[in-house]
Amino acid sequence: MDERRKPLIAGNWKMNLDLAGATALAREVLQRCGRVRTADVCVLPPSPLIQAVGKVLEGSVVGFGGQDLSPEDEGAYTGDVSAKMLLSLGCQYVCIGHSERREYHLETDESVRAKTGRALDSGLIPIVCVGERLAERDSGDTFHRVERQVMVGLGGLSPEAMARVVAAYEPVWAIGTGRTATPAQAEEVHEYIRKLLAGMFGEVIANRTRILYGGSVKPGNARELLGQKDVDGALVGGASLSAESFAGIVECAG
Ligand code: PGA
Repeated sequence: MDERRKPLIAGNWKMNLDLAGATALAREVLQRCGRVRTADVCVLPPSPLIQAVGKVLEGSVVGFGGQDLSPEDEGAYTGDVSAKMLLSLGCQYVCIGHSERREYHLETDESVRAKTGRALDSGLIPIVCVGERLAERDSGDTFHRVERQVMVGLGGLSPEAMARVVAAYEPVWAIGTGRTATPAQAEEVHEYIRKLLAGMFGEVIANRTRILYGGSVKPGNARELLGQKDVDGALVGGASLSAESFAGIVECAG
């Protein structure tokens, strides 16, 4: 990792836990990661649990955020969550375009772009996910797929806005499968994403953008992944549900 980029380790809790479980996990994460200075750390609880988790983490170095947000400001959008709501709960981050949102909620690169714009306008830090499916990797379409996701999902942002975006490369075949990309496979795509960003926003912004890796990151493989030149952190699913393993990954950063 480039020294100018502070690593970010984000725990995506997905649709797990309940009120008691989430507050307990937040307390334990705070206990284990509350003094970390070498990396930024955040957790992304399910929407109804954000407020309680936020109360635990408030004022600490452990940030928190949402797993998705609506591209709309407010109104008749049943089930959706607005940027204003997330901000009012103290969120700093929001995950956008996760492959599970793309798959189960039919999100497109275009909707990712709209949500990213909304997040940036409102002051939230978007963590924008891209990544190919197994069939796309097997047919040699990885770079093509990722290119479209980046070009459309982040297209037309101003360089100033882009400077606040965090990108995340998550090969779909590595999410929740226990099958991690090798460090070399990850680095190859991270380097490619940075090249795309350089073409879109210039070298300075591209070199400043953090690109996280996600997909079966665990304490046992985190050090090698995070040791790659263009891997600037991790988006952690399963392993973030245990404070011990999440903290183990945080320890590998920085
Ligand atoms: P995983 O999930 O760590 O369980 O593979 C990663 C993610 O989906 O963000």
